[in-house]
Amino acid sequence: MDAMEVTGGRRLEGRVRASGAKNAALPIMAASILADGPMRLRNVPDLMDIRTMARLLAALGVKVERDAGGDLLLECTSRRKSEAPYRIMRTMRAGICVLGPLVARRRKVKVSLPGGCAIGDRPVDLHLKGLRTLGAKLEIEHGYIVGGGRRLRGAEMYLGGPFGSTVTGTANILMAAVLARGVTVIDCAACEPEVQDLCRVLIKMGAQIQGVGSPRLVIEGVEGLTGCEHSVIPDRIEAGTLLLAGAATGGDVTVEGARWNDLFALVHTLREAGAAVEHFDDTIRVRARRRLKSVDVTTLPFPGFPTDLQAQMMATLTAADGISVVTEKIFPDRFMHVAELTRMGARIRKEGNAAVVHGARRLSGAPVMASDLRASAALVVAGLVAQGKTNITRIYHLDRGYEKIEQKLRRLGAKIRRYRES
Ligand code: EPZ
Repeated sequence: MDAMEVTGGRRLEGRVRASGAKNAALPIMAASILADGPMRLRNVPDLMDIRTMARLLAALGVKVERDAGGDLLLECTSRRKSEAPYRIMRTMRAGICVLGPLVARRRKVKVSLPGGCAIGDRPVDLHLKGLRTLGAKLEIEHGYIVGGGRRLRGAEMYLGGPFGSTVTGTANILMAAVLARGVTVIDCAACEPEVQDLCRVLIKMGAQIQGVGSPRLVIEGVEGLTGCEHSVIPDRIEAGTLLLAGAATGGDVTVEGARWNDLFALVHTLREAGAAVEHFDDTIRVRARRRLKSVDVTTLPFPGFPTDLQAQMMATLTAADGISVVTEKIFPDRFMHVAELTRMGARIRKEGNAAVVHGARRLSGAPVMASDLRASAALVVAGLVAQGKTNITRIYHLDRGYEKIEQKLRRLGAKIRRYRES
């Protein structure tokens, strides 16, 4: 298994570009099931989750390949198979994004419930509620969602859950509603930039969607959808992670492919913590000459502070002056990184869905273990500010969501290397 060694204490400086957004690309890839004709996607990162989605789509009759220029080409060549098997679904929760398109296009479906997850309970009840409201007859049998029915019918629905809107749930209902008969209204739809990007793709394919980016989406079903070409938005979470690494090390980092409109919760939080943040077009620059100050952070659905940056923010705050409270309102158990940060000398007390971070700690490098994608990123940020060497095992979690992260960090002056654990 691959591991990573980070030698801390260097100020990061320079300019890097964020890759395309994994969480935008995954549902967009699933939309290929809906298309009559080929899709060409640009700016799709080369990551494990993207390859897993390609495997899942191949099992569902979609031909997926990367051309020499790096574009992803997808074309549905057979509509006979409609089983999303557990062996693939257990490795990647985003596989659930095939459910909506399959229900819309294949009528009879068998989709495995996704596997367990280190960030906590992740039900799909809202996905099912929405699809059933559109008329799909779906049951859970032996770990699979099975059923289908006739052509879906547009309907009004409220898609909010106990923790707000659902990102992949909204994606699934959207992809089903675009081919339903009549009008669908989704209230409390997710507004995340990744959902907006999916809407843009569906519209290019011929869908009728109004309210893009708002919590009310109005979809008028159409008879068919074509293929299209699209360039996936840059990854706001990767960009945010790089900006936090810059701020945490007292550096001066410019990230291209960091869209202000997608990242203002982070930008305002960094400013409150004392960093200077500027933006021009799709570029954000962070400078943190002095030690950062403590700030309280609460994760919320977009445009709130993203849960996918909570762990990296917490790692940054371990070195800030004062006491910060980090509250997690999307996944209340998403605190696996706390124990590992504590091993590096952080003083963090967990209280329910919050963590009280006593800052001004000089972290010291230690052997630590990655538990999920963003927790791994937090350990890298912590390793960059710590004294000495941090060895992170189970780095495959990081590879699921960060393309060429060592190269990017090295370009900024980090001392970081990958090695094979014996
Ligand atoms: C997406 O997951 C992202 N994944 C996650 O990123 C991200 O953390 C999350 O949205 C929140 O922003 C992809 O886009 C592939 P949700 P998703 O449904 O859609 C509850 C990463 O690190 N809920 O918006 O699965 C749920 O338990 C990953 O890249 C229900 O109660 O998340 C949570 O508390 C991890 N019932 C809240 O809603 C449901 O049916 C938001 O979850 C669905 C969700």
